[in-house]
Amino acid sequence: MINTDFAIRSFKGGYDDNFQFILTCLQSRAQMCIDAALPFETVRPFIDGAFVAMLITHTHGDHIAFIDEYLEAFPELLIVIHEDSAGRISALNVHPALDGEQIQVGQLLIDVLHTPGHFPDSCCYKLENVVFTGDTLFVGRTGRTISQGSDTGKLYRSVYDKLLTLPQDTIIYPGHDYGRSPTITIDKNIEISPLLQAANEQDFIERMAAFEASRNQPL
Ligand SMILES: [Fe+2]
Repeated sequence: MINTDFAIRSFKGGYDDNFQFILTCLQSRAQMCIDAALPFETVRPFIDGAFVAMLITHTHGDHIAFIDEYLEAFPELLIVIHEDSAGRISALNVHPALDGEQIQVGQLLIDVLHTPGHFPDSCCYKLENVVFTGDTLFVGRTGRTISQGSDTGKLYRSVYDKLLTLPQDTIIYPGHDYGRSPTITIDKNIEISPLLQAANEQDFIERMAAFEASRNQPL
């Protein structure tokens, strides 16, 4: 399917090769950001429509680092964030996001997928053949489960039940540039990622443990 009514601009920077995105509805010129990982000054030149919303993938510090700068410039900005963390954001307009709901920005309809595991309030945002995956799914692997509140079993269910089951040509836009390319389709990602080839939850947990152990090996 060819989509002609929205545009995605990617920015890379922040604390750890973070990605931030501007998503523009080309019919209405409504614009939104995915995460606030880069300074407002970096993104500002590319805001040329009606900047109305910011979708937060989760509340790890690097993903919301610059949110106050955006709110200072756009106090009315609608902050979309999982309901569990809505109280953590001080903004005029906060939308507590629920799994399975659809959010309209301009003419665009965005599906909220609650995907706990990397972090309890992790959400992915799906628009047609594109899904913004935050730290739940990267190019080449899943997110890690080493922070307080992480849960590898929940990550398995989020990734395997909610993301890998999407149409296989869906393109993921992750929260960091950790892979061999900035984006990838679901089917290609499964092909290149041992962590996406687990037989079941237990197998995934074992693969994650092996992955973490390998990271700790001295080079
Ligand atoms: Fe994270």
